[in-house]
Amino acid sequence: MSTDILEVPAEFAANALVDTAKYQEMYKRSIEDPEGFWGEHGKRIDWIKPYTKVKDVSYDASDLHIRWYEDGTLNVAANCIDRHLADKADQAAIIWEGDEPNVSRTITYRELHEQVCRLANAMKDLGVKKGDRVTIYMPMIPEAAYAMLACARIGAIHSVVFGGFSPESLHGRIEDCDSTVLITSDAGMRGGRHIPLKKNADEALEHCPNCKTVIVVQHTGDDVTMVEGRDHWYHDVTAAASPDCPPEEIGAEDPLFILYTSGSTGKPKGVLHTSGGYLVYASMTHEYVFDYKPGEVYWCTADVGWVTGHSYILYGPLANGATTLMFEGVPNYPNTSRFWDVVDKHKVNTFYTAPTAIRALMREGEDPVKKTDRSSLRLLGSVGEPINPEAWLWYHRVVGDERCPVVDTWWQTETGGILISPLPGATSLKPGSATLPFFGIKPVVVDNEHNDLEGATEGNLCIEDSWPGQMRTVYGDHERFIQTYFTTFPGRYFSGDGCRRDADGYYWITGRVDDVINVSGHRMGTAEVESALVAHSKVAESAVVGYPHDLKGQGIYAYVTLNAGEEPSEELRKELVQWVRKEIGPIASPDLIQWAPGLPKTRSGKIMRRILRKIAANEHDQLGDTSTLADPAVVDDLVENRMNRG
Ligand code: WT7
Repeated sequence: MSTDILEVPAEFAANALVDTAKYQEMYKRSIEDPEGFWGEHGKRIDWIKPYTKVKDVSYDASDLHIRWYEDGTLNVAANCIDRHLADKADQAAIIWEGDEPNVSRTITYRELHEQVCRLANAMKDLGVKKGDRVTIYMPMIPEAAYAMLACARIGAIHSVVFGGFSPESLHGRIEDCDSTVLITSDAGMRGGRHIPLKKNADEALEHCPNCKTVIVVQHTGDDVTMVEGRDHWYHDVTAAASPDCPPEEIGAEDPLFILYTSGSTGKPKGVLHTSGGYLVYASMTHEYVFDYKPGEVYWCTADVGWVTGHSYILYGPLANGATTLMFEGVPNYPNTSRFWDVVDKHKVNTFYTAPTAIRALMREGEDPVKKTDRSSLRLLGSVGEPINPEAWLWYHRVVGDERCPVVDTWWQTETGGILISPLPGATSLKPGSATLPFFGIKPVVVDNEHNDLEGATEGNLCIEDSWPGQMRTVYGDHERFIQTYFTTFPGRYFSGDGCRRDADGYYWITGRVDDVINVSGHRMGTAEVESALVAHSKVAESAVVGYPHDLKGQGIYAYVTLNAGEEPSEELRKELVQWVRKEIGPIASPDLIQWAPGLPKTRSGKIMRRILRKIAANEHDQLGDTSTLADPAVVDDLVENRMNRG
């Protein structure tokens, strides 16, 4: 691991919002006087009725509640649009770059206002009310942003489902939050291929009788079936609606959105975020971490189907009056210079992407990067998984020409915004480290016996107190919220990640310590893949673990026990991969499937995953104690037939 330190470039520090001294001073205040600090910074957004209470939080499992600015009211969409109309009406709010390089569109704040108002009114005309859940299953097109903001404008709760999820996954998410409305499009485009979103939606809706209204954006022009009385064309309903929709007055603690994310057990959880604190935190982190200055063009390559898209394509940047770039395509279409061509085309100043994309582009060599200009870039960001120092250094040297700081931002769907990250004008960088906590965040490293560890150490990463962007509950299951995050280490928020803290107090995230794996920056619950596999008629049992993968960070390794009488075959292996893609989506495809005559279990029947992880990692010489196994012989077979020998 590299321990090199890169100092803040002097020129960058001179022009930055925050330098080292200011970071230290603000951080100290935020920890010593959170009420005062957040009371002051809450004013960065517009309130309809100002708050008088700042914080009411208890992490005590018997009375767990998290409330920020609770007596204030606001409208999130008005903060993201209307308040910029006075001085930025003609500034680009969204620059949209399509899948094909010759397709792009600029949407000014004035146009954004009109589009969002029209859709908000159309939704009201279709009977959508404050508090209703609206599922959004869309490609990366401006209408996805309009849909989210239109919900925020009328107080409906959006649940965006990533367009790569299967009909079955969409169905589960619509049903879990009892969505009555779905907004989708005919199809999406990625790398020249069409993704049949409407067709998927039709399949999902066969099982969702309560979802009675569908709004369909015509994007690709692909043929779709429109169901009479249920399905409406987006262009029809918005054309008929008024371009003026007064923003609804929303309580700070009223829900803004639900976003499903995988956990270590059971079905995906509906992470619930509320309005006031979330917007304060998303906008503040966006401004400080990306050192955002008016007029800059900012590009986050995530999809709006993930939290990164919510906080750092949409809400954070728009609340700050930024110009945010939205990209429909992929890094390698039509060729591997695409990212940098887009940077040059739109003069992008800040570029924020995932390590998996950097590693994939790194494989293509320097040429596709070096033949582009990139002189507009001043800052680079990374998110989604630990970035290996080698990829970090390549990103810094080749993409950023050693001129642009790299901010490695650690956070989660649950946290709503960035918790640990450099501030580019304040923090010396160490490649591979997410560095230091943001204002108000007090990380604690805890051992498995619940002891707080001091100084340079390694352990479980918890956060001591709340911050305004924190999730408030699991939708419909507050008990699961408490169980998942507040009982392993009582009195703390437990992230599920492990970390190391070095002698300088820098944090190095080491990855998940639970049964969640991180595939190309996407979170996958091993339990979900297992239940998809056992749903196949030929599968008796399965255990899924992650293993180190050069490009994806982690790959998915599935041990599968077939029903008696079923024969393993290459064909069946392919069939099972297809099956999981159909059940969950392509991101859940197992990379390796090993036929397992038996799984290593304790005498009480618990699968010993530790052993399965070691075999999958090709570290079978470090299996540790296997004497508690019911049948130690199964391990020999698994080792002998292991699939990863790299
Ligand atoms: C998990 C959260 C946060 C937006 C994208 C993913 C991992 C995220 C980093 C980072 C090391 C990271 C963690 C975390 N992770 N960012 N900079 N360094 N690990 O959101 O799907 O909720 O996943 O992603 O393991 O727990 P998510």
